[in-house]
Amino acid sequence: MEIRNNDPGAVQYGNFFNYYQFSDATERVKLLPDADIWLPALIDGESQGDKPYFILDVGCNCGVLTQLMHKYLKERLRRTVKVLGVDIDPRLIQRATAENESPEDVSYACVDVLDDAAFESVKTYMKENDLQKFDAICCYSITMWIHLNHHDQGLRFFLQKLSNLAELLVVEPQPWKCYQKAERRLKKAGEIFPLFLELKWRSDVDLQIQNYLEESLDRRKLFESAPTKWQRKICFYR
Ligand SMILES: C[S@@+](CC[C@H](N)C(=O)[O-])C[C@H]1O[C@@H](n2cnc3c(N)ncnc32)[C@H](O)[C@@H]1O
Repeated sequence: MEIRNNDPGAVQYGNFFNYYQFSDATERVKLLPDADIWLPALIDGESQGDKPYFILDVGCNCGVLTQLMHKYLKERLRRTVKVLGVDIDPRLIQRATAENESPEDVSYACVDVLDDAAFESVKTYMKENDLQKFDAICCYSITMWIHLNHHDQGLRFFLQKLSNLAELLVVEPQPWKCYQKAERRLKKAGEIFPLFLELKWRSDVDLQIQNYLEESLDRRKLFESAPTKWQRKICFYR
């Protein structure tokens, strides 16, 4: 795909085909914290044993960050790490599957996480692996796309739905500046986000997300990374 003016192009769901030419996944994975943040505090006498550590990576695109995170965590946690990466775009999932370097531990499925019928494949994965919850659910750079397409209540529903299934919730929200850029790009391409002007969570959207997770979903922030080159912070909530 040709890239003009260093512009990733206009898309509705953040389903950029060339995403990792712009977002350096190697640099982002370096911002992830060490094992203690990923693991729950153990009560005396409890042990994690040899049980694999299970992650759901929501909006995994073509899997580049997913693969790097898998490798990073396998080394840090010194146990098997299993990842299910899901994305709304079947072409990205096809590519992620074709380029999967660890098919024994990493799998991919095409799922719109807000679609209950499609989300059944995540539920099936949980049943097959005897999971009540994932050890961690990662939402890297996806909140803005959920927000732009499903409004404030859709974003709250997304956070609540995933929070219910996660021991640890990892969120890298896009700040408002990114919304303005995405809106400008789509406008240039002759389209619009119909909900853009109606959003109530706006200039401080990252703070609104944090308040919602802490106050309404009763989560506690354990860690916040240094900002990425796009001024996004990766936040860990237990
Ligand atoms: C900007 S990319 C981020 C990719 C990756 N998480 C990262 O940070 O490197 C956002 C991804 O979310 C996906 N996405 C958007 N809405 C989704 C939905 N409702 N369900 C699943 N995936 C979705 C897009 O297709 C896209 O690949």
